[in-house]
Amino acid sequence: MQDETCKVLEHLDIGAGYRYLVVAAPQMAAAMEPGQFVHVRVPSLEASAVRRPFSVFNAEDGRVTVLYKAVGRGTRALNAVAVGDELKIMGPLGHGFPKKCKGTALLVGGGFGVAPLYFLARRLAALETPPKMILFVGGRTQADLLALDRFATIPGVDVRTATNDGSAGVKGLVTVPLDDELARLKAAGAPFELFACGPDPMLKAVAQRALDAKAPGWISMDRHMICGVGACYACVQKTVRGYSRCCIEGPVFRAEDLVFD
Ligand SMILES: Cc1cc2nc3c(=O)[nH]c(=O)nc-3n(C[C@H](O)[C@H](O)[C@H](O)COP(=O)(O)OP(=O)(O)OC[C@H]3O[C@@H](n4cnc5c(N)ncnc54)[C@H](O)[C@@H]3O)c2cc1C
Ligand code: FES
Repeated sequence: MQDETCKVLEHLDIGAGYRYLVVAAPQMAAAMEPGQFVHVRVPSLEASAVRRPFSVFNAEDGRVTVLYKAVGRGTRALNAVAVGDELKIMGPLGHGFPKKCKGTALLVGGGFGVAPLYFLARRLAALETPPKMILFVGGRTQADLLALDRFATIPGVDVRTATNDGSAGVKGLVTVPLDDELARLKAAGAPFELFACGPDPMLKAVAQRALDAKAPGWISMDRHMICGVGACYACVQKTVRGYSRCCIEGPVFRAEDLVFD
C-alpha cells in the first residue's frame, strides 16, 4: 500500500455531475487490482484529515483513474482540483475481484458502480483465454449510463442497458436484461459468474440471483468510510460470520457471505 502525492493529469467533466480524475501514481498503478479502491485526501478538507474512497476505474502506464460524482462536501471540493495540482492518495486498498472467471462474466453496474467493472473487464480481456463478457448497465436515465464509450474499446464486451424512464435500452431495472440472459445461460447449462457494483438494492438482487443459480457472485459494497485501513469500524457490513470491514475484508465480498437488511 502506498501513500503517494500524485499530480493531477486530467480532470474531465462528462456531464450530469460525473468526472474522470486521472493522476500520476506509478507505484500504485503497478500494484492495483480491479475492485480495489483509493483513499483521496481532498485539499480544501485537509484540516479534517478525512479522506474519500473511490473505486479505481483504471490503472495502467503509471496512471490511476477514478470516475466520481459530486454528491457532497468532499466530492464538490474535489471538483475544484485542477490539472497540475497535487493530491495525497492512499492505495491500493481492500480486496478486489478474482483474477479469472469460469464461463461467461456477467458484469452488472449502476451509476459510478461501473467504475471497477471497467478495470475488471480490461484485465479479463487481457487474459490468454478471455471469457465472454456481458456488461449490464442500469440508471435512472440515459445520462446515468456511464463510460459506455470506454467499454466499447474493450474487445469482447457485449453491452445491455436499462433505464427507469426508457430513455435508453430496456425500460426498467437492470435485472430485466440480466434475467433474460440468466434464463438463456441456465437453459444452455452454460457456466457463468456475476460481478456487481452499484446501489444496494441492485447488489442485493444480483447476490440473490447468484445464490439461486449456485453460481459465483462477487459483490462490491459501498459503505461510508473514515480511516480506510481497518482501524475505525465505520464501514462494517453484515455477513454470515458477523460484521466485516468493507475497507479490509471487502469491498468485494462473495454473494453467499453477505447479509442484506
Ligand atoms: C469502496 C468505495 C468505492 C467508491 N467508489 C466511488 C466511485 O468510484 N465514484 C464515486 O463517485 N463515489 C464512490 N464512492 C462513494 C464516495 O466515496 C462518496 O460519494 C464520497 O465519500 C462522498 O463524499 P462527500 O464528502 O462528497 O459527501 P458527503 O457530504 O459525505 O455526503 C453527501 C451525500 O452522499 C451520501 N454518501 C456519502 N458517502 C457515501 C457512500 N459511500 N455511499 C453512498 N452514499 C454516500 C451521504 O449520505 C450524503 O447523502 C465509493 C465509496 C466506497 C466506500
Ligand atoms: S473505514 Fe475505518 S475500518 Fe473501514
